[in-house]
Amino acid sequence: MADRIKTLVETLNYHNRRYYVLDDPEISDAEYDRLMRELLALEKKYPEYILPESPTQRVGGQRADLFEPVTHALPLLSLDNSLNEGEMIEFDRRTRRALDNAKEIEYVCEPKLDGLAVELVYENGLLTVASTRGDGLVGENVTQNIRTIKSVPLKLSAIDNRLPEHLDVRAEVFLGIAEFNELNKQRQESGEPLFANPRNAAAGSLRQLDPAITASRPLDIYCYGIGRYAGLALASQWEVLKTFDALGLKTNPLIQRVVGIEQVQKYHQAMLERRASLPYDIDGVVVKVNDMGLQRQLGVKTKSPRWAIAYKFPARQQTTQVIDIIAQVGRTGVLTPVAVMQPVNVGGVEVSRATLHNQDEIDRKDVQIGDWVVVQRAGDVIPEIVKVILSRRTGQEMKYSLPSRCPMCGSETVRLEGEAAQRCINLSCPAQVKERIFHFAAKGAMDIEGLGDKLIDQLVEKGSVRDVADIYFLRKETLANLQRMADKSAENVLNAINESKSRTLDRVLYGLGIRFVGEHIARVLVRAFKSLEKLAEASREELMAVHEIGPQVAESVVDFFASPENRTVIERLRRGGVEMRPLPESGGKILAGKTLVFTGALQTLTRKEAQTLTEALGGRAASSVSANTDYVVVGEDAGAKAAKARELGIPVLSEIEFRKLAGLDG
Ligand code: IVH
Repeated sequence: MADRIKTLVETLNYHNRRYYVLDDPEISDAEYDRLMRELLALEKKYPEYILPESPTQRVGGQRADLFEPVTHALPLLSLDNSLNEGEMIEFDRRTRRALDNAKEIEYVCEPKLDGLAVELVYENGLLTVASTRGDGLVGENVTQNIRTIKSVPLKLSAIDNRLPEHLDVRAEVFLGIAEFNELNKQRQESGEPLFANPRNAAAGSLRQLDPAITASRPLDIYCYGIGRYAGLALASQWEVLKTFDALGLKTNPLIQRVVGIEQVQKYHQAMLERRASLPYDIDGVVVKVNDMGLQRQLGVKTKSPRWAIAYKFPARQQTTQVIDIIAQVGRTGVLTPVAVMQPVNVGGVEVSRATLHNQDEIDRKDVQIGDWVVVQRAGDVIPEIVKVILSRRTGQEMKYSLPSRCPMCGSETVRLEGEAAQRCINLSCPAQVKERIFHFAAKGAMDIEGLGDKLIDQLVEKGSVRDVADIYFLRKETLANLQRMADKSAENVLNAINESKSRTLDRVLYGLGIRFVGEHIARVLVRAFKSLEKLAEASREELMAVHEIGPQVAESVVDFFASPENRTVIERLRRGGVEMRPLPESGGKILAGKTLVFTGALQTLTRKEAQTLTEALGGRAASSVSANTDYVVVGEDAGAKAAKARELGIPVLSEIEFRKLAGLDG
């Protein structure tokens, strides 16, 4: 059995590397999942054979040592900067002079990623400690968090059947621009403070107390240097990088070996041109003397080596004046203040607008109309205002507050307690219509097959659909007249729309897209109030009297139904034939008042199905085990929660036992 486990771990790690390091997968996700499930099942049965490099061991484990100081065996140096061609020529001249007037030097050129420097220590091929750079001498232990990064091998690949006895890897951890934007979007939606740039987001993600949160952030890594090493022969930086590739350590594919300073200039220019289209932020290129013998000859200064330099790109900060501040309405109704500025060229791109994120951000930075400001651009990230130049204030500036009425539709805007965002909650607001309809037609809600974003875009742009109720008044000709719509497909969509009329009320409610009302809360509300009419009349207090309904949800629901526009939409949904069926009452309510916790992978039910079933039987599915838990249902690979249940003396059920209890099986 140990053999099979070992084979599975090796196979999975191989495919993991193909996917995350080489970006060239060989098998399907489904096949990977199948192998992973087999491994999980075996490891559960034979925990004594769990290997430290098992892909199941990325999240979890002890985290007592998180953020403990780690002294680097060799210091992590920093780099001197060169800001222009002249300074680079000077660096090359200095270097050649120090090397007995060498004629042309071989350099390795690498993109300089703007992330976070870390050190990974591998002993006999296994990742043992990972730490941040800190002050270069002492960093923080972030091993548990680094292990969650899928492109970091937990075990190196052997070269000629051998693993190096020791290897300190220096690398840059970073977050891509798209990932950064997505993370901030989510944070803005939930009213959390935004990260200023991908670098801060990467740092914040790595400095998480809960490795599960780090795991949910799509961090990536590029390895570029070494500290101590044993069991490897390395004579140049180029060999270091090629050896990294062979060991399964991820390196940047844009790295190049060049000869002479002219080639360095060319590389710098080429990267500058590519900068805007790269999926991550770079702030320059790093130029390193390739030969390690020459590196030794050149030596290091206190903080930086003489054999390498950062050849920076031109600053992406500029000063300009704020002409106006306007509010833009996003697809979910969030009002985003945007500064309109005197156009200015920032790092090669003309910038005339910068996001101010939300009112708190305006207040914090104290940006006023008429102010002179410093703006910056980071890759493709939306330009933003770094700071106000207070010394240039004249007294003519004007403070700005987000409007109390939506600039798109004129209805009142609200700012919910605990949220940074101010939003327009009018369902018919044209800026939001598309997103609303998409959400309404999506799987967990009305599940209208064929009504996807392309179709919705056309329908909204033509004015055929202004709110979710309009869907139920669509005529076949309207659909058939759209682009790429044959008669037959129009008919299919109409059938799907018709079919959706019989969805249960909780799905209609969820589909309306009320803030904080997810699928589960929608069911809780429908169970408590039975009809949309009763829910619409409920006061904040009545709502909060319901188990699981807090002040945030209560307020959001009251606000929603207070809007006459929203009430009209609901009225029209009814007229359009949406039945709003009550939830089926389950006979016995065997789990009435009981709280269950599901942990580990269930084999015959999805987590969601188990949860829905529990609720249908009057119970509640919670996420963590406490003294109030009545049963813990354990699937495959159940970890700490099962142990905690036993500790607290809470009955632990297998999946089979749960099925019996729920009346699914004899
Ligand atoms: S080499 C002795 N290579 O830049 C060499 N650094 O200012 C020291 N960085 O702390 C670093 N990409 O965080 C090197 N390809 C690269 C790099 C790189 C990004 C960062 C690194 C370092 C900082 C130095």
